[in-house]
Amino acid sequence: MPAEPLLSNRPSSENSRDLAEEDALLTGQPTDKSDFSPRSWKFWREIGLFVWAVVATALVIVLAVVYQKSQDSHNTTPSPSGKRNLIFMVSDGMGPTSLSLTRSFMQFQNGLPFSEQLVLDQHLIGQSRTRSSSSLITDSAAGATAFSCAQKSYNGAISVLPNHDPCGTVLEAAKKAGYMTGLVVTTRITDATPACFAAHVNNRMEEDRIAEQMVGDYPLGRVVDLMFGGGRCHFLPNSTDDSCRSDSKDIVSMAKDKGYHYVDSRKDFDNLKGGKSIDLPMLGLFAETDIPYEIDRRNENDVYPSLKEMAEAAMTALSDATRNSDKGFFLMIEGSRIDHAGHHNDPAAQVHEVLAYDAAFASVLKFLENDPTEGVMVSTSDHETGGLATARQLHTSYPEYVWYPSPLANASHSAERLALEYNTYLEKKNPSEAERVDYIRGSISSGLGLTDISDAEVAKLASDPGTALYQYAEMVSRRAQTGWSTHGHSAADVNIYSSNPKLAMPLVGNHENTEVGDFLREYLGVDVDAVTKELQEKGTNLMVTDAEGQQVSWMGRIPEEGERLDGQTHLASYGGDFKKRHWNHGRGCDCGH
Ligand SMILES: *[C@@H]1O[C@H](CO)[C@@H](O)[C@H](O)[C@H]1NC(C)=O
Ligand SMILES: *[C@@H]1O[C@H](CO)[C@@H](O)[C@H](O)[C@H]1NC(C)=O
Ligand SMILES: [Zn+2]
Repeated sequence: MPAEPLLSNRPSSENSRDLAEEDALLTGQPTDKSDFSPRSWKFWREIGLFVWAVVATALVIVLAVVYQKSQDSHNTTPSPSGKRNLIFMVSDGMGPTSLSLTRSFMQFQNGLPFSEQLVLDQHLIGQSRTRSSSSLITDSAAGATAFSCAQKSYNGAISVLPNHDPCGTVLEAAKKAGYMTGLVVTTRITDATPACFAAHVNNRMEEDRIAEQMVGDYPLGRVVDLMFGGGRCHFLPNSTDDSCRSDSKDIVSMAKDKGYHYVDSRKDFDNLKGGKSIDLPMLGLFAETDIPYEIDRRNENDVYPSLKEMAEAAMTALSDATRNSDKGFFLMIEGSRIDHAGHHNDPAAQVHEVLAYDAAFASVLKFLENDPTEGVMVSTSDHETGGLATARQLHTSYPEYVWYPSPLANASHSAERLALEYNTYLEKKNPSEAERVDYIRGSISSGLGLTDISDAEVAKLASDPGTALYQYAEMVSRRAQTGWSTHGHSAADVNIYSSNPKLAMPLVGNHENTEVGDFLREYLGVDVDAVTKELQEKGTNLMVTDAEGQQVSWMGRIPEEGERLDGQTHLASYGGDFKKRHWNHGRGCDCGH
């Protein structure tokens, strides 16, 4: 191709002066406007038009200001008018590389061309920066506080600020404004992300206290109309087998006293008829702790509902319940365990979690298309988990540019499930050395579908069952050449998706995570600051008795120095941790998701 000057390649226009001015803007060269001969008729006409344009513009601005002022005197925050629904989706721990991993896996498994995309891919609108007030790497508590309160707080904070004052949440404000509200998750409903919408505690580990608050035992009373997820054990008194509470409180009874209809099984869920037979308020706890990973759950579909099914039932019920209201609903739906698969460095579990999230995302799009009420869905992550890379250098020689989806497709179980089964086997059977080796080989070939098992891999599993979870996951990762840089979170920016980029315009581009929180309250047009004020007024000096019989703040004990990072000192100082070589992770460390 002949080298043409860049600026010449442009459609011609009848007005050559415009072109000259455009060139001037692009090149910085002054234009030659010699066709203005002073005092010609044309000259005065131009002046006249210019003056008219200035006067007219000024008039419009004055009228707009006057109109705005008169509006403001009626209504201090200009809130959007009209009935609306807001569905906020959170893909916990899903960074951009999770999409690449899952997309290639999906194409491989279905024999599809590289042009085939996930549903998510087609709705990308921006990115979110995720740091918390205490660290460049956030946890899910500070991450969700940025969404619920639109404020930065410290890692571990459940909708409390760095000074330990509670901050009102968008869900609480939505409830007060007359919206219906819901939370749907695949982890414990008391885990950090859902907790941040309807509870306030100083330390995310206090899930017993979070359970009480979420059913309405806190200064605002009941604010959530529908909850679906796991975490039943935090609702049952310590006298029952399935309890993980440290006290004898029965939170299921407490919830019923506050009006909740309670369901706890697949059979109960099916009786809800996809949401058509839900009586609100509704509390559905379908697992003792987390709902199993999708890779395992799909074989136990008669025991646990999927994320998509729970989301659909929730949307149907909330839409029906608001049919005759002038307010719609606010629903948070979380793909909670993408994060856990990242913590476990288990790529096979992760792709099935992301695909389950993608399916729920598609359901939400379909709902919004068909529901008569205006609505928008925004989807983002609180942070990335695992430092995932679709690349891995296995040897010192120059790396090949490949990663292989096929080992992920061979796996029929998560590493978490295989490790749990292996440890249960060891406890129950007390096997001989040879039996143990047989068991391990069998679990790898049937659970992971791997045929090239090495003796070293078997020997390590036999001698170190405490780290079996990480070992099973590592077998898949090495073969797939999937890289991980941590069993924790990373500081990567995460994607923002929406059903409608026009309605979600403030989130187009790169944003701080608190701006996602700003969008939620602004779209609903709700007064979160009034809730903060109410919480602070009603909560001052409000004490409760803890499990040890001591009087503590209703938001629980403030974590001590060392239990949480102090923002400034942590950011300023480097601890020389690279020299430490601890190998002390147990199976499935639950700490600090
Ligand atoms: C259950 O909790 C109560 C406090 O509410 C405590 O006194 C009791 O020892 C606990 N029981 C068990 C079995 O842990
Ligand atoms: C995956 O399964 C296929 C079919 O059983 C087998 O041929 C292949 O070797 C397996 N892949 C690995 C990495 O073991
Ligand atoms: Zn996590």
